[in-house]
Amino acid sequence: MNAQDYKLAVFGQPVAHSLSPRIHRLFGEQLGIDVDYAAIESGIDELPERLASFRSEGGTGANLTVPLKPAGLKLCARVDRPARQAHAVNTLKLAADGWHGYNTDGAGLLLDLDRLGIDPAGRRILIVGAGGAVAGILGPLLAREPDCVHLVNRTADRARRLTDKFAHLGSIDGGGFDFGPGERFDLVIQSTSAGHASERPPLRREWLTETAIAYDLNYGAAHEPFANWCRNNGVSVHDGLGMLVGQAAQAFEIWTGRQPRITPVMTALARA
Ligand code: ATR
Repeated sequence: MNAQDYKLAVFGQPVAHSLSPRIHRLFGEQLGIDVDYAAIESGIDELPERLASFRSEGGTGANLTVPLKPAGLKLCARVDRPARQAHAVNTLKLAADGWHGYNTDGAGLLLDLDRLGIDPAGRRILIVGAGGAVAGILGPLLAREPDCVHLVNRTADRARRLTDKFAHLGSIDGGGFDFGPGERFDLVIQSTSAGHASERPPLRREWLTETAIAYDLNYGAAHEPFANWCRNNGVSVHDGLGMLVGQAAQAFEIWTGRQPRITPVMTALARA
């Protein structure tokens, strides 16, 4: 393998804080693959131009992050099913006919749930939030055949609109935080961005079974408000760092054909 056989980058705004360059460098070291992975600042309007100049400089693969994932869809010659379902692309790979688009967020979540020994099959899953992050995970999650999925969101209509789009894939419904008692879930996935404002969604302990497990798509400071609620209510909780590394591992495999292990990378990130 020649040096910099893989010229890669993450595009986003803001992008300076992204952990992706570090994660992909660690994957490359783990597998002995030389990757040159940059972080490129771009808004939605500049994306076509930035991507074209990246390609002309030899770029063959990219990640898209906030706010570019829906915009990426239009720039692709082909997109995979999760990206079509989510209406968002987080991974691009250059092919003969142009960029091929993928969405690895759902597969990344599943990879991390597998690592944690949490099998979604047969579970009653409560998803808190109904934004872009949820759109990315619903298709792959429903494919694992949970007993049911209920979306609860501050804006009830948004939850209903999203569940309508996925209703053909499994047992799923949604609404506001005022849904009636009697419903008990054994896996709760927290996807809202409330933690970025040091807030948490108004989740109620009685909606969960005694042994329910919680998974937060957030990590770091944004995870803390929900983590505190879980600790105070005796609910075991995992943060979303593993999903971040998992979605990156899936992207790395799309580009290189080799899937890295995520645990050593998470250990390295935690140490840093
Ligand atoms: P993302 O791509 O991270 O999902 P998003 O599409 O902006 O971002 O969605 C953010 C989600 O967090 C939404 O479900 C939002 O609820 P609304 O649809 O009602 O806006 C939710 N959210 C953000 N702040 C919240 C808060 N303080 N309490 C509860 N939900 C919140």
